[in-house]
Amino acid sequence: MNDLSKTGRPILPVSHNANPIDFGRNFPPPSPVVQRALTETFADFGAANIADAIRFPRFMGTLSDREAGAMWLSRRLGQKPSLERVLLANGSQSVLAMLMARFVKPGGVLLTEELTYPAIKPLSSLFGIELRAVSMDAEGVDPVSLEEVCVELGDNARALYCMPTLHNPTSATMSEARRADIATVARRHDLWLFEDDIYGVLPEKAPPPLSLYAPERSWYILGLSKSLAAQLRLAYVVGPNSDISQNVFWPGVRTTNWMVAPLVAEVASHWLTNGIGSEILQSVRAETLRRRALASSILPRMKRFPSEFNYHLWIDLPEAWQLDAFVKAALDAGVVVGPGNSFAVNTQQGARKFRIGLGVPSDQDELVRGLKAVASILDSGGRSGVTR
Ligand SMILES: Cc1ncc(COP(=O)(O)O)c(C=O)c1O
Repeated sequence: MNDLSKTGRPILPVSHNANPIDFGRNFPPPSPVVQRALTETFADFGAANIADAIRFPRFMGTLSDREAGAMWLSRRLGQKPSLERVLLANGSQSVLAMLMARFVKPGGVLLTEELTYPAIKPLSSLFGIELRAVSMDAEGVDPVSLEEVCVELGDNARALYCMPTLHNPTSATMSEARRADIATVARRHDLWLFEDDIYGVLPEKAPPPLSLYAPERSWYILGLSKSLAAQLRLAYVVGPNSDISQNVFWPGVRTTNWMVAPLVAEVASHWLTNGIGSEILQSVRAETLRRRALASSILPRMKRFPSEFNYHLWIDLPEAWQLDAFVKAALDAGVVVGPGNSFAVNTQQGARKFRIGLGVPSDQDELVRGLKAVASILDSGGRSGVTR
């Protein structure tokens, strides 16, 4: 059954608000450049033999797809990776499913930050994989905790899935020294690293990917969903070397739908090659700055995060509120927020937090209405007598 309304928003079962303002999902803000990019791209396709693009599977991407991807990857990697290590896939989630099935396997343990991308939980349970949380500090994964967990689990600890840059939901970003420390621990315990850098291209400047510190054991994943278009559905992957990249993602190995859709690859390669991809990213950054400025003027409790190109906010719940009651009060007021505990892996972390994604509201008016509603609920907590 379809659980989305015609607008693409989730249908929420118990709410008098048919169309709540959605701060729960974390998509980039709308960019007018995307419409122009699509219009121009399809006009360009009209002059080419585009029908061929959907005659055959694309699997890991054509050479020119991987060339376009390597150029985009070089923004983060500092230089173009060799094309044999690069592949395209149907989004980061599909890549993670392939990596879990291949390297963690049923019965194995996948280490994650104690607060993680929520989809990791159902995905790992689909494969019979246990998750183990590693403690975090202001820089993300704590290397001491990682070491302890590895010592305790021994060979069962197979891989670490992490987001070293603009972590979801906390926005923590590892320093270069921290990245080097994590790589050292991973090497000592022979851990695979699954690096999800989906937010990593948002800042104008960010530390180099963790994968560069331990390339022999790293799978670097750069999805486009958070920078260019949430539902284009494409992620670029750089594996440790060409043999293993091709072996793990060889089409005959596992029949899931990890492969990129050919028309999507065609569109993305076009965007990255002709420069409009960079224009979209610039416009996403500019709109993010506008939205963050509005949020900090309306939400008095909003901390001033240094990572300013980030459109997800991780906010403390005031003492007077209990998380469930707050989330429900927000929904009753017509706003969906992300409860902090939905990110937690076997921990109480997040129990007094919530996440707001500033990107989904379609315009400033909707954004402001939603933010004002949240601000007034936060302030009303004590007065309305809601207790923890
Ligand atoms: C950290 C993180 N990784 C991956 C994804 C989804 O990636 P994709 O759309 O490429 O499957 C999300 C989306 O919320 C995310 O927050």
